[in-house]
Amino acid sequence: MKGMKDILFEAIINEGMRNEVFRSEPDFHPEVYREAFAAAISKVEGNLNGFKGGFPTSSTIGNVYALNVHGDTRDANPQKIQGANVGWTTGFWTGILCLTYEQTRDEQYLKTIEAHIDSFIDRIERKIDCNTHDIGFLYSLSCIAAYKLTGNEAAKSAALSAANHLMSRYVEAAGIIQAWGDMNDPNQRGRMIIDCLMNLPLLYWASEVTGESSFKDAAYAHAQNALKHIVRPDGTTYHTFFFDIDTGEALRGNTLQGHSDESCWARGQAWGIYGFVLTYLYTQDARFLEMGKLLANYFLNRCPDDLVAYWDLDFTDGSGEPRDSSSSSIAVCGLLELVKHLSDEEEQRYYTNAAKKITKSMYDHYSSKKDAASNALLLHGVYFKKYNHGVDEANLWGDYFYLEALTRLTKDWQLYW
Ligand code: GLY
Repeated sequence: MKGMKDILFEAIINEGMRNEVFRSEPDFHPEVYREAFAAAISKVEGNLNGFKGGFPTSSTIGNVYALNVHGDTRDANPQKIQGANVGWTTGFWTGILCLTYEQTRDEQYLKTIEAHIDSFIDRIERKIDCNTHDIGFLYSLSCIAAYKLTGNEAAKSAALSAANHLMSRYVEAAGIIQAWGDMNDPNQRGRMIIDCLMNLPLLYWASEVTGESSFKDAAYAHAQNALKHIVRPDGTTYHTFFFDIDTGEALRGNTLQGHSDESCWARGQAWGIYGFVLTYLYTQDARFLEMGKLLANYFLNRCPDDLVAYWDLDFTDGSGEPRDSSSSSIAVCGLLELVKHLSDEEEQRYYTNAAKKITKSMYDHYSSKKDAASNALLLHGVYFKKYNHGVDEANLWGDYFYLEALTRLTKDWQLYW
């Protein structure tokens, strides 16, 4: 007999692989990815010198990152620190350095990565700006990446502390990790977020290295609730979803960064594609692979002419709305992971063609190769449309996933996730 979750899963509409553009093989030479990687690295090298070991802002102003300037958030009169390790995006800069180090083996990157690890150790020890599910983004791409690349034991230990901290955000009755804020904040209590699917690998990793199943159990419960409640019957996704923290009852979907509560925020859908595939990788539960395909189909069926997504999938060509290139870079990485687990050749071809064609378009039309003054990699993202923050600007996660996509297309890459 089928369980309730399986019936719900089957009720979700799968639009299928309907975008004819992705039926044909790319007609360009794969050398283009190396060219794109080289262009990206020249920007990274400039930033390595420019940021001097500090962390940049989340998104650019006029296509240029500055240094994060912030005080210690627990301090009433904080002393401002240039290049501070605060916010949810600093790990993307360390991740960019790790990808660049892997490709170049240039020791100058390693030196800065190690300095960043010291900063991440300090951050988790003193719990600086850690009241968030984003701990996974921060620690997978810094401490876990460094541990995997160099065997840095202090980095491993900090990543385990980070995993323990993420577990403190787990709401047992609902089986979810709370997105933001204090666990008793009435406005944030019991809220899960689709982005958090990308933070679950920190917990899967913690279970692997400690042998303790509690990390994986929490991640798996959260992923199942995302499958059941964040995904709508038409294969689109909510940004966030509220639960009653006492009874565990599922309450309502809601958006903060999307166009409307019922629209499909492009970056959320992209987090879902990659995040569900990663949950498949660590649980081998086939429903998550299916879910990755289903979300990918919706995303790919709404690609505009140049294949780079608008910031909300309710919009397409002619809308006058901005693109969010970062959504496309995240989705491409999810697709390239997805195809590694597919046995059907038609599916493999379709999703590989999509990943390659979108990446080529990002390089041709959205990369900073045409803007010598920019210190970013991928232009034309949207951070927070409603607040007019980082609109039509580059952002650190867009840059990171663009470089991860190019890495995946040029070598056999061992995941940091
Ligand atoms: N995770 C926050 C964002 O995607 O903007």
